[in-house]
Amino acid sequence: MGFNLGQYRIDGVLFLAPMAGVTDAPFRRLCRQFGADYAVGEMLASAPQLRNSRKTLARLKFFDKECPRVVQLLGADPVALSEAFHWAVEAGAEVIDFNMGCPAKKVCNVACGSALMREETQARKILEALGEVSQKCAVPVTLKCRTGWDEAHKNALQVGHWAEEAGFAMLTVHGRTRAGAFESQVEYDTIAQVASELTIPVVANGDIADANRASAVLRYTGAQAVMIGRAALGRPWLFKEIKETLRSGVPFELSHKEKVEAILSHRRWHFECYPEPVAVMTFRKHLLWYLTGWPGFEEVRSDLCQAPDALMQGRCLLDYFERQGWL
Ligand SMILES: Cc1cc2nc3c(=O)[nH]c(=O)nc-3n(C[C@H](O)[C@H](O)[C@H](O)COP(=O)(O)O)c2cc1C
Repeated sequence: MGFNLGQYRIDGVLFLAPMAGVTDAPFRRLCRQFGADYAVGEMLASAPQLRNSRKTLARLKFFDKECPRVVQLLGADPVALSEAFHWAVEAGAEVIDFNMGCPAKKVCNVACGSALMREETQARKILEALGEVSQKCAVPVTLKCRTGWDEAHKNALQVGHWAEEAGFAMLTVHGRTRAGAFESQVEYDTIAQVASELTIPVVANGDIADANRASAVLRYTGAQAVMIGRAALGRPWLFKEIKETLRSGVPFELSHKEKVEAILSHRRWHFECYPEPVAVMTFRKHLLWYLTGWPGFEEVRSDLCQAPDALMQGRCLLDYFERQGWL
């Protein structure tokens, strides 16, 4: 198992999916520590007027020793995307991923993301342009797409062939059409067909949340790896749990104490990455993902969510962990 992505060796089968607002440098660091074999950052807009926005620049951060540093680009224009490729590489990107999967209306309305699954001529131009830049800079380019635009237009295999011909090094397929959003049944059959026909590594994505599903999808699709998105929200330790379960054959779960340690590390790195007022707000969603359903959490939920600054939020969190005996 394992494969090369340009000069990088990818030795493992559990990848963290790109998730805007989630897979920033602190979260990727934690997931990689827990055994994610590869992690993609949040999507970045390629349009020149958006490239230097505060939001985009904040998304272009890496953690110490991150390898490879994977930056995902979103766009509809081959020239702007080629420029953004160079710009991201100058900022430290070591692999560029191109997003042809985002289903959001505001993204599709400007012909980006999954809208390109039905704009085949434009998609092909972009793939060729990015493949050329990739070759020139010796920086691998990869693609993430869906199975098609809708039931009547499934073209992941065709798009995959174009990407392969253009020099793309890997293809991730989210096994749903754009019309299927995040809910429809995942088409592992389509992923299997793409994996069997392409020569580049194919990664299967969609509804993988535990060890059984991960190993079943790997077997069924013949994909080189699986990519996990939503199941990792509030569960960065999932990668370790899946690996240990597959290794030992016995379901493995981290203790509350180990999870608490991870949450506190995440919080520390999060506050190192963002200015305090931003960090207080943006860490709330992680806390809710982490703690919803934990014993005694409902009693502290509103205090924790309303804590106005880092000190109060930290105190509230530590008090809760202490009361539960996890510190
Ligand atoms: C909050 C959130 C943000 C996402 N942002 C991105 C993104 O920036 N780029 C991308 O290619 N996919 C994005 N996705 C899609 C995921 O990468 C993944 O393809 C999708 O969630 C299906 O995988 P899952 O069933 O394991 O969640 C996002 C998904 C979620 C839930």
